[in-house]
Amino acid sequence: MTHETSAYTPPSKMLAAVYDRFGGPDVVRLADVPVPRPGPNDILIRVVASTVSAADHRMRARDLPPGIGLLAMPVVGLFRPRRRILGMDFAGTVVAVGNAVTRFAPGDDVVGMTGSAFGGHAEFLMLPQSAAIATRPADLGHEEALALVFGGHTISECIRRREIRPGDDVLVNGASGAVGSVAIQVAKHFGAHVTAVASADNAGLLARLGADRVIYYRAEDFSTGSETYDIIFDCVGNAPFERFDRVLKPGGALLQVAADFKALVSAKGHTRRSGKLVAPITFTPAASDVAFATRLYREGGLKPVIDRTYRFDEIVEAHRYVDTGRKRGSVIVQIAPPHRRVAAGTLAKAERA
Ligand SMILES: NC(=O)c1ccc[n+]([C@@H]2O[C@H](COP(=O)([O-])OP(=O)(O)OC[C@H]3O[C@@H](n4cnc5c(N)ncnc54)[C@H](OP(=O)(O)O)[C@@H]3O)[C@@H](O)[C@H]2O)c1
Repeated sequence: MTHETSAYTPPSKMLAAVYDRFGGPDVVRLADVPVPRPGPNDILIRVVASTVSAADHRMRARDLPPGIGLLAMPVVGLFRPRRRILGMDFAGTVVAVGNAVTRFAPGDDVVGMTGSAFGGHAEFLMLPQSAAIATRPADLGHEEALALVFGGHTISECIRRREIRPGDDVLVNGASGAVGSVAIQVAKHFGAHVTAVASADNAGLLARLGADRVIYYRAEDFSTGSETYDIIFDCVGNAPFERFDRVLKPGGALLQVAADFKALVSAKGHTRRSGKLVAPITFTPAASDVAFATRLYREGGLKPVIDRTYRFDEIVEAHRYVDTGRKRGSVIVQIAPPHRRVAAGTLAKAERA
């Protein structure tokens, strides 16, 4: 029994990128899988685009920060992947809603995070109406709006732990990636002075994003310099508190976006002993964090950074590129080909015939 109230009847099967064993990009393949049927509180989204993110790489390759394996096992899987379909974020259109849904209606254009449920690399995605979803800004295309989400959501979580104040000295380690490129923009928006740590290849991008100063990590070690910081965003995970302590000002904050097991268990002790906030960021998808990203875009404080765009049938190549660890901002996968990007009501029921 289904609870859809809209006239639209989704097809029974959809195309999804699945993987059935851990490994390199080639373990991913396109396959037909059943379309989920929304329950009373669920919405069904026709996915237009998703990204291949660092999270997808970690899940697919079982490449987790040291010591995290056991903790992450319920999501990642032990011998086989627990989540067959990757994709932590999405942009798309609501096509069907359960009869208790009040937040969304068919035809709504949305962006969001699925979090540890994944599932964005498929033509349809079902989520509860309470999930981390926001309305797509009307003046942005699906792909541009999507590119705000992964980093925007993560940085929103970070600044719930420590707000950025005008005049703060902020350092962003891993500044050119999906999270770092948002951290720079958000810190500038709130009036901080921003130092970005990246490779020299990304100098142009960092300048465009507004970084005041750039440290090229192959030429200079920021942890031995004379500058000190109020907030450090670590989006690489190669700099434990011991390495950061001397460049973190009294009362400063280390926000560990890429935290390993040691960072997780030692954070409270470091905080207590040093008087500085050491905060591993643990992923908890929330609608307010996605809304933060779209709101900041509307206020002019956040621009999408898109590195490359792949068609759905090129998703293995997208994974291959993300595996380099060198991507800039987001790598987009077009789930719905451009000619099918039409309003929900006009989606052809026979499109998969
Ligand atoms: N806890 C959470 O909630 C959460 C949320 C999102 C992401 N994460 C984690 O945070 C990390 C970053 O995510 P992301 O999406 O931003 O990754 P990403 O888009 O793949 O970016 C990684 C960036 O790191 C840079 N980099 C590599 N080695 C570096 C080094 N030694 N020093 C400085 N920069 C270096 C690369 O730039 P160059 O080409 O310039 O080297 C690349 O642009 C990942 O480990 C991810 O799993 C955690």
